[in-house]
Amino acid sequence: MNESNIQIRLMKADDFDAIVGIDEKVLKTSRPEYYKMKFEKLFETKDYLPASLVAEQEDGTVVGFIMGEIYMGEYGIFQEEASLDTIGVDPDNQYKGIGEQLINEFIDHLKKVGVQKINTLVDWNDSKLIHFFSANKFSPSKTINLERRL
Ligand SMILES: CC(C)(COP(=O)(O)OP(=O)(O)OC[C@H]1O[C@@H](n2cnc3c(N)ncnc32)[C@H](O)[C@@H]1OP(=O)(O)O)[C@@H](O)C(=O)NCCC(=O)NCCS
Repeated sequence: MNESNIQIRLMKADDFDAIVGIDEKVLKTSRPEYYKMKFEKLFETKDYLPASLVAEQEDGTVVGFIMGEIYMGEYGIFQEEASLDTIGVDPDNQYKGIGEQLINEFIDHLKKVGVQKINTLVDWNDSKLIHFFSANKFSPSKTINLERRL
């Protein structure tokens, strides 16, 4: 399989099971509650615009996804920034350029609505993911994320 067999399309509510399944294969733990919350926000809230996509094989199987949010500001004007919250490609289909294809289409989609910057958070110790984002032209931002243990 190569990239041309993969179609990128907007995520639908029906994609829930496929996405939870891919996430489980990637992380080796199931997070239906997390995705239930994200899907509710995506498909039922008016303050956020959908910026989430899936990668689909010719037979309709979903093999990857990318989820993000564009915040709709006051007066219905988009903010210039969007977030990339989650990306996942089925481990059986990784290293075929699907991740890159998802990022590129995600960016094209955001550019069309005026977004100028995308933020994402990556675990410092996840060198594979950091490498992937670096290869896709992401770089460390000038703000740092602070935390305090309680
Ligand atoms: C990160 C992730 C999305 C990448 O997906 P992917 O489809 O494998 O990504 P790509 O194929 O575009 O790129 C991966 C690598 O394969 C390489 N590659 C792409 N096409 C290739 C091909 N035909 N042959 C060989 N290598 C190829 C890319 O160059 C890239 O290598 P590099 O990182 O050394 O530059 C995937 O590994 C994943 O789902 N990881 C888990 C993510 C996760 O933890 N998500 C939850 C929190 S956000």
